[in-house]
Amino acid sequence: MKNYIFLSLFLSFLIVPISCQKHACDEGSPQTSKFPFCNTSLSYVARAKDLVSRLTLQEKAQQLVNAAAGISRLGVPAYEWWSEALHGVSNVGPGTRFDSRVPGATSFPAVILSAASFNASLWYKMGQVVSTEARAMYNVGLAGLTFWSPNVNVFRDPRWGRGQETPGEDPLVVSRYAVKYVTGLQQVDEATSQGDRLKVSSCCKHYTAYDLDNWKGIDRFHFDAKVTKQDLEDTYQPPFKSCVEEGHVSSVMCSYNRVNGIPTCADPDLLQGIVRGQWGLDGYIVSDCDSVEVYYNAIHYTATPEDAVALALKAGLNMNCGNFLGKYTVNAVNQKMVDVSIVDQALVYNYIVLMRLGFFDDPKSIPFANLGPSDVCTSDNQQLALDAAKQGIVLLENKGALPLSKTNIKNLLVVGPNANATTVMISNYAGIPCRYTSPLQGLKKYISTVTYAPGCNNVKCSDQSLISAATKAASNADAVVVVVGLDQSIEAEGLDRVNLTLPGFQEKLVKDVADATKGTVILVIMAAGPIDISFTNSVNKIEAILWVGYPGQDGGDAIAQVIFGDYNPGGRSPFTWYPQSYADQVAMSDMNMRANSSRNFPGRTYRFYTGKSLYEFGHGLSYSTFCTYLASVPSTILIEHNTSFSDPHNILSTNSATQLDGQAIDISTINCLDLSFLLITGVKNNGPLDGSHVVLVFWEPPSSELISGIPIKQLIGFERVDIKVGKTEFVTVKINICELLTVVDSDGKRKLVIGEHTILIGSSNESQIRHHVDVRLSGFSK
Ligand SMILES: *[C@@H]1O[C@H](CO)[C@@H](O)[C@H](O)[C@H]1NC(C)=O
Ligand SMILES: *[C@@H]1O[C@H](CO)[C@@H](O)[C@H](O)[C@H]1NC(C)=O
Ligand SMILES: *[C@@H]1O[C@H](CO)[C@@H](O)[C@H](O)[C@H]1NC(C)=O
Ligand SMILES: *[C@@H]1O[C@H](CO)[C@@H](O)[C@H](O)[C@H]1NC(C)=O
Ligand SMILES: *[C@@H]1O[C@H](CO)[C@@H](O)[C@H](O)[C@H]1NC(C)=O
Ligand SMILES: *[C@@H]1O[C@H](CO)[C@@H](O)[C@H](O)[C@H]1NC(C)=O
Ligand SMILES: *[C@@H]1O[C@H](CO)[C@@H](O)[C@H](O)[C@H]1NC(C)=O
Repeated sequence: MKNYIFLSLFLSFLIVPISCQKHACDEGSPQTSKFPFCNTSLSYVARAKDLVSRLTLQEKAQQLVNAAAGISRLGVPAYEWWSEALHGVSNVGPGTRFDSRVPGATSFPAVILSAASFNASLWYKMGQVVSTEARAMYNVGLAGLTFWSPNVNVFRDPRWGRGQETPGEDPLVVSRYAVKYVTGLQQVDEATSQGDRLKVSSCCKHYTAYDLDNWKGIDRFHFDAKVTKQDLEDTYQPPFKSCVEEGHVSSVMCSYNRVNGIPTCADPDLLQGIVRGQWGLDGYIVSDCDSVEVYYNAIHYTATPEDAVALALKAGLNMNCGNFLGKYTVNAVNQKMVDVSIVDQALVYNYIVLMRLGFFDDPKSIPFANLGPSDVCTSDNQQLALDAAKQGIVLLENKGALPLSKTNIKNLLVVGPNANATTVMISNYAGIPCRYTSPLQGLKKYISTVTYAPGCNNVKCSDQSLISAATKAASNADAVVVVVGLDQSIEAEGLDRVNLTLPGFQEKLVKDVADATKGTVILVIMAAGPIDISFTNSVNKIEAILWVGYPGQDGGDAIAQVIFGDYNPGGRSPFTWYPQSYADQVAMSDMNMRANSSRNFPGRTYRFYTGKSLYEFGHGLSYSTFCTYLASVPSTILIEHNTSFSDPHNILSTNSATQLDGQAIDISTINCLDLSFLLITGVKNNGPLDGSHVVLVFWEPPSSELISGIPIKQLIGFERVDIKVGKTEFVTVKINICELLTVVDSDGKRKLVIGEHTILIGSSNESQIRHHVDVRLSGFSK
């Protein structure tokens, strides 16, 4: 969303809170409850069409915007479409607020940290808890039903200010997160036996190739993302495709930027063609806030506002965050720029979602009608927020100092600009949390003598005046926990970083404190994006390093429990840790994923980056050692080509005698149905503590002269498993061949390469297992 102070002030005066009494088809008003659109025996689409058929053009235009006016003569109340629930119910959108009845809601960690758990059932459970709290707030008139979350853009560049909102840099992880969080929020399964009811409506955003906010004067409102077909198909689109096809999300939001010259909200191929046509969205497409106005005003994409509105509606936009469609749709229709049938269709999509949510039904008949304030901030919900933080925390380094002894440490010093963080921990798109536990407060629960010295005034740390107090305190501490990092003043919506180092004098603070103490130094990095901390290599006193993201309302307890060994960390980095040289070498505005040596471009993310990283995607240590072995996996896979495929280009018969390694087969010509195998690994916990282990399954495609830009490696499966000391657990990962063992060519087509594929278990930092799988076409000799 745009930081639009004017709009939000304006809205806070105008929005009438949605009250529990306000719903359409109220039985108490006999003159408006008898319309066919109120008849629950009819299908949603029939009801929605009936309603739309009763509206004047003026009325229609007023329903296409987030602050939908409602139609009082038909008993349809106003509705505010804009609410947010990225990692807890948020009051960022005007549809949701807190008051004395519900003063706060459970605030989970920033998504980037929950993602680091690699625990799909956690993501689902978080969605469930958030939608329970959202429904509870709706029932007392404090929240809407349509939540414009989650953010499923791939964290392409480490400088992106909104990386914190995303599940990281890997398209598979982002896709799985999207599916789990969305199904947890919408809970279609449990909503009722009645068709496709929604608990709340979720929205995958920002479609597509949106991951630059404001970098060296290039901003998202003016940016034209030049994206290749190959990158679009295997990096930018997969999370949205999964969200719609598998997650059955009920909304997709188009972004501010252009993709290859066309604003996404005005692109009929991207909206009508792909989201609605190919993927089959059952829901509505909404614009980012004012993005239609933005392409008219900021880049003058059309000559008139009516043109802009007509273009968006014809492209497949159904709902406008902002008021541009409210202002110009009537004229656009009257000037014959867009047919009224397109406006009607947009409204039908919108109303079906409201009907699935029960907005047109007796509130008492709706599942979840009994939820109320006592279902918000329950101790179970708050436990889950703490659990999410613990599961996500990544142990980057440990020379053996961690876990710290609860008994041997007499004098603990806690230092750093984020050492007593509260609001920093709940990141952006937050609400009001149930409570806070800062790192300092969490650590004090373990040690009676804790000294605190911030060392910096804030994360910018632009002067050194507080460093000497910290070093003085360090001289008589047994252990020092230094909590450095970033906050919304450095990485935020509308603010990308320009470098990857710690701001200001933070690095000096760490070095000076380490020099001054005889004790152990534990470095805690509270930030979303990766930081170049290579200076720590030459600071011997730093015995361990933790990355804690922005860990949510109880982040301090999570950090303390990890440091003192009450929780054995198992999180894995959801992104690559680049050196500062990366930021010097690569323009953030270059959307290419693939390396290109002729222009000195090193590529992006672990899939393509050719440089040396500080820590790789998937890196994360434990207090235990785990030993992994392959229990079951095929060595050869035979592919049958689809016999009904007519093979117009003779691809298959030209090599009928031999099949050459590197041959690339279009997957539309093979029988993909049920083409999968199971990979089973055994994992033994060799101690000394119970813990959880994330099995990461990577794939190295064979090379093919026919396809350029094949990934170095790619994640094809993952599973987190709890293992007691001395015990072995088996982990089964299902690998769908056409989806996961295929590469995308320069035309954006998926190809299966014949030859020796390699499966890799574990991140580069683990003792990896390599296994070869020979992929052959059946009926052809080698
Ligand atoms: C509701 O629709 C059903 C199916 O068309 C119809 O049989 C019924 O009479 C309608 N009910 C009312 C109250 O109009
Ligand atoms: C830590 O932060 C809390 C909450 O903002 C505040 O009440 C407390 O005084 C701070 N502690 C110290 C030692 O500054
Ligand atoms: C790096 O950027 C941050 C803000 O993004 C700034 O605070 C810091 O001083 C910069 N460091 C250098 C060495 O430019
Ligand atoms: C690499 O960059 C050069 C120079 O811009 C360009 O001509 C070439 O097509 C690029 N190669 C690939 C594979 O994109
Ligand atoms: C086989 O190819 C035909 C024609 O392209 C297609 O309709 C059919 O769905 C394919 N079958 C499978 C199992 O992929
Ligand atoms: C995954 O998260 C769920 C929900 O918090 C938790 O019950 C489970 O133990 C976690 N699994 C592992 C392996 O950590
Ligand atoms: C994994 O990383 C840790 C910390 O950087 C290092 O000490 C260890 O040797 C690495 N292990 C392997 C197998 O690379």
